[in-house]
Amino acid sequence: RTSLPAPMFTRSDFSVWGILKKCIGLELSKITMPIVFNEPLSFLQRITEYMEHIYLVHRASRQPQALERMQCVAAFAVSAVASQWERTGKPFNPLLGETYELIREDLGFRFISEQVSHHPPVSAFYSEGLCQDFLFHGSIYPKLKFWGKSVEAEPRGTITLELLRHNEAYTWTNPTCCVHNVIIGKLWIEQYGTVEILNHRTGDKCVLHFRPCGLFGKELHKVEGHIQDKNKKKLFIIYGKWTECLWGIDPAAYESFRKQERRGEPPRKAQSGISMENADTEVVDAVPEVQDTVQVIPGSRLLWRINTRPPNSAQMYNFTSFTVSLNELQTGMEKILAPTDCRLRPDIRSMENGNMDLASQEKERLEEKQREARKERAKEDTEWQTRWFRQGRNPHTGTPDWLYSGGYFERDFSGCPDIY
Ligand SMILES: *[C@@H]1O[C@H](CO)[C@@H](O)[C@H](O)[C@H]1NC(C)=O
Repeated sequence: RTSLPAPMFTRSDFSVWGILKKCIGLELSKITMPIVFNEPLSFLQRITEYMEHIYLVHRASRQPQALERMQCVAAFAVSAVASQWERTGKPFNPLLGETYELIREDLGFRFISEQVSHHPPVSAFYSEGLCQDFLFHGSIYPKLKFWGKSVEAEPRGTITLELLRHNEAYTWTNPTCCVHNVIIGKLWIEQYGTVEILNHRTGDKCVLHFRPCGLFGKELHKVEGHIQDKNKKKLFIIYGKWTECLWGIDPAAYESFRKQERRGEPPRKAQSGISMENADTEVVDAVPEVQDTVQVIPGSRLLWRINTRPPNSAQMYNFTSFTVSLNELQTGMEKILAPTDCRLRPDIRSMENGNMDLASQEKERLEEKQREARKERAKEDTEWQTRWFRQGRNPHTGTPDWLYSGGYFERDFSGCPDIY
């Protein structure tokens, strides 16, 4: 489908201050927010958006040289967060045992995820290429913190990509995402932190800095970094914006361009000399002015470019075309899906259909049902059993992780929990 069944509900009349003022510094999962700040997707579906640019992984698999493969993998890691651009809606917290599957034959993958823990919330996912070219898996523990004006989401958990034809594994962690002005002012999103992608076979590493916006917004959305070999020799320079495109260039060409630039232009003293008088002193975090596009250094190679959003995106929570299709329930699908699949969740479905009252009611009912089930387990002294993933260690990093147990696509869904 190319659009959602109903346009988005306006949020402008809602003040969250009353709810949030008691909660500064708390973890956001402990705060109940009105549904109007949600988007009609489960967090499990939001994770699936990593797959939008999976062609970069197929491309990586086709490259004979490790350096070229790393360039594709770096582009994939950056592209995976691009769908978050201008997405300020909060996805629904998955219920314990909730699952989401996605098969895209046209894009060459299938994907399965499960909510494996509720406190703390942990989502595990596993995907494989339909041509046996890759495995992509991980577990995400989005630690959300409320800082008075902004909400920060730190996506803990390792992400692993295996290129099977090259017997290679790459691991990394996503950058931190911050939503500004959750109480008053215009909402905007920033990603920051350093992402290190390690090729465990060769020891090559790609270091990517997601720049925070900085005082004057100069750095907004910028990503800069390099690829180095195991002896820390720089092999390739990468630059661009996660909201736009990513370029790469040979380090020597990069250096000579920068040198030329320094000779050609008098050093700018503006940075430190700007008077603070004009700096924004209001209570909101000023929205940085839209910056010009990425300046391309001659001799660069384009590694990735964002897909344009559909024309009706603004009425659809700023979804991408890929995202719009995630919660579609085609006729006959409910007979094939696991009964725990997000597409069958009545609160998300109601919100998608524009029925906010029913969505709120259903959300409350589902959460109550989940609490009851937990109490029941406590009484009977039984532990929750995950279905498709098991706790273990990441085979490449040795850190705690959730590993796919297999079997989902054999579709024996007897004994799946009744969570809706
Ligand atoms: C969509 O993007 C626009 C433009 O940046 C922004 O004003 C709006 O708040 C965004 N909507 C959502 C739901 O995030």
